[in-house]
Amino acid sequence: MATLEETNAALVEADHSLRRRDFINIAAVSFAGVGAVAVALPLVNQMSPSADVLALASTEVDISKIAPGQAIKTSWRKQPVFVRNLTPKEIQDAKAVSLGELRDPQSLADRTKPGKENWLITLGVCTHLGCVPLGVGDGENRGDYGGYFCPCHGSHYDTAARIRKGPAPTNLVVPEYNFTSDTVVTIG
Ligand code: FES
Repeated sequence: MATLEETNAALVEADHSLRRRDFINIAAVSFAGVGAVAVALPLVNQMSPSADVLALASTEVDISKIAPGQAIKTSWRKQPVFVRNLTPKEIQDAKAVSLGELRDPQSLADRTKPGKENWLITLGVCTHLGCVPLGVGDGENRGDYGGYFCPCHGSHYDTAARIRKGPAPTNLVVPEYNFTSDTVVTIG
């Protein structure tokens, strides 16, 4: 039969061992908690787009200084964008082409906004292999059809930036855009 001292010693040892187990359990739960937070934070960060991404989502362009016959190159989502103010003659040339002649049939009206057919806004990315065509800068080669010319493999685009000659399969892409006012366009 155990003495009183032996019984007390056994009780103290049992109590210690219980506390050790509690500590291990608490520690495990705490680490699980930290782990959950550590995993949750990147997920939350991924779900809310950064300021950079939001800024890239749309681009505002002041078009007030672009005279008829001029164009500018801007960028949207890291891609070049051409904004051209067509002259009445360029508009007339684009309208004179019958859609049956076109590789990628689209009218000027399909590629511009109603009442704003002089504003031709396209990506400045050749649809062949992605070069940036010439034709924005003063005196640049605008190709056989007076629009844009891609010297990489010789694609010619007309005054509505439609492919007319060369290997590019489709017209220069018209991105989504809206006139925020008469002088500001928001692309994207
Ligand atoms: S990339 Fe423009 S013609 Fe080839």
